Amino acid sequence: MIDISGNSGVGMSSDKGSDQNSPNYRMSYRDVAMHKVMLQDVVRTEAYEKSISDVVRPEHTVLDFGCGTGILAMFAARAGAKRVIAVDRSPFIKTAQEIALKNGFENIDFYHDDHQSLQLDEQVDVIVSEWMGHCLFYEAMLEPLLATRDRFLAQDGIMIPAQVSLHAGLVCDEDLSDDLSFLAERPYDIDFSPISHVPLQQTDLVTLDPESILKDTAHLGSLDMHRISKSDNPRVFSGTIKTSKKSRIFALCGWFSAELSPGVRLGTGPNDLPTHWDQVLFPLPEPFTVDAARELTITISPLTEQVGKEQFWYWSITDGEKTVSVNEQQQQQELAELPSGKL
Ligand SMILES: C[S@@+](CC[C@H](N)C(=O)[O-])C[C@H]1O[C@@H](n2cnc3c(N)ncnc32)[C@H](O)[C@@H]1O
Repeated sequence: MIDISGNSGVGMSSDKGSDQNSPNYRMSYRDVAMHKVMLQDVVRTEAYEKSISDVVRPEHTVLDFGCGTGILAMFAARAGAKRVIAVDRSPFIKTAQEIALKNGFENIDFYHDDHQSLQLDEQVDVIVSEWMGHCLFYEAMLEPLLATRDRFLAQDGIMIPAQVSLHAGLVCDEDLSDDLSFLAERPYDIDFSPISHVPLQQTDLVTLDPESILKDTAHLGSLDMHRISKSDNPRVFSGTIKTSKKSRIFALCGWFSAELSPGVRLGTGPNDLPTHWDQVLFPLPEPFTVDAARELTITISPLTEQVGKEQFWYWSITDGEKTVSVNEQQQQQELAELPSGKL
């Protein structure tokens, strides 16, 4: 999944069918630019290649759900799969087929379908999908993937990724705090107070250095992609951290990691190799002092998982005595509700 900034700093990614009417039309899965960004992410793409080559056997039928350029389908074909099925709802899939044929991959069947319209005449042994969004949830692909798994994965079939996990860190970087408070500092001697609080309550996409966060990080939860059911798809992720020293923190940050298959891990945090996913920044409206004596509970919750909708989040930190929380959706609605015309 890749970033196209919408109203908030965090990207929107889509090929939602009706995206021709969207101002972000150019930045959709119909556009080579988006696929190029994903392909240029070698950390991501090589991890998938390794996992596919470890997992796929000559007797396997492999389904690539959301195939984009067909890269994962071609990896599966190259790994020797008996048959590969590549599915995407974007008309870009015609180009994917052209690329596959150009490269001599004749055993890939392409389906221009989404998870609802797809009809297959067989169960598959492996489903591979690169469905993860920023901080895991910034793309409404999890439910469609689970629906596809439930319809088409054979008993004891294999999911790639096998497991995904959400993590959070505590941002202590003073420069970042200065950046968040820029509008509150009366730049150009102008009072920006009607909007100066907004950057402190809005997610953003950032590339953080390991030094920008405290060493201790929280594991907020994991999804077992073979077992999780559509109905227990969790919406609230919480975890605890005990920090080793007293610090002032200005934001939380979130990222995911994935175990694609046994021994093949893909990490997207500040301590991992950079990927196009970056990290999501969850600012705190006021600094929060943490110290070694108190256990902290961090909660991050994706509030929307609807195709074509901007993703909003809820986040909070508490040490049992003090709690700071933000509901980004409320904040955004306030700004959005304005009739057009002279004010
Ligand atoms: C993050 S891209 C991954 C593309 C490619 N697999 C890769 O690794 O480069 C996700 C793809 O899934 C497709 N997609 C998203 N939701 C889908 C759905 N419900 N049914 C079919 N395709 C979907 C998008 O059009 C997009 O091409």
